[in-house]
Amino acid sequence: MSKGPGVQKMFDNIAPSYDLMNRVMTLGQDQGWRRFVVKKAGDPGTGWALDLATGTGDIAALMAKQFPAGRHLGTDFSLNMLREAKVRFADQPVCWQAGDANKLPYKDNTFESVTFGYLLRNVDDSLTVLKEIQRILKPGGRVVCLDTTPPEKSIFYPFIRFHFRFGIPLLGRLIASDEAAYSYLTGSTMDFHTAEELADILKSAGFTDVDYKKFMLGTIGVHWGRK
Ligand SMILES: C[S@@+](CC[C@H](N)C(=O)[O-])C[C@H]1O[C@@H](n2cnc3c(N)ncnc32)[C@H](O)[C@@H]1O
Repeated sequence: MSKGPGVQKMFDNIAPSYDLMNRVMTLGQDQGWRRFVVKKAGDPGTGWALDLATGTGDIAALMAKQFPAGRHLGTDFSLNMLREAKVRFADQPVCWQAGDANKLPYKDNTFESVTFGYLLRNVDDSLTVLKEIQRILKPGGRVVCLDTTPPEKSIFYPFIRFHFRFGIPLLGRLIASDEAAYSYLTGSTMDFHTAEELADILKSAGFTDVDYKKFMLGTIGVHWGRK
């Protein structure tokens, strides 16, 4: 059975508390990683930049602020997350649209860049989605992916494991009144590709110049590449 409908419902439910939960859970560091994504996506000139799985819109809004000459699109399949984005960034020239990353409603070779934060962990098959992104990017266009990464064994591993196993679900219960959603986050992070594996999947999808950087004791990865 596809993960899609359950994931969509989960984000529809947690949309109002999503931003607060993010700030607390990451000790306020999440915006810094998004700024790095924007830097790697680069200037779209007067062309189109897509932020896929835009959620409450942070990356799309940062792109629009940084590159005001570009045309900016934020797409997600959770209408409640998009509603939050529209309210939060009513002053930003971003076009918000509903769409599923598995089958995007855009023509081939449309975008200068496609960014996405915390999408691939939530889809059935990363390669399928990356091929779809490759299809809609212009030749030379840039892909930038921000996601959690399973923590490596290090002296910090027991603390990270404890935070994932107990801290995050507890915060989910207190802030979002939804422990299950944040237990899912922990589980989907532990089961997700390592940064090295994800780089290989990007290459299999046809991207070149693939590289990545890790943040937050290796639990966050930003990958980038070019069509
Ligand atoms: C953890 S949130 C991330 C939101 C935002 N990118 C950020 O940086 O905060 C993941 C988002 O991915 C969206 N999503 C998950 N699977 C999707 C799919 N197949 N198509 C479109 N959006 C999807 C969810 O609805 C949710 O808004």
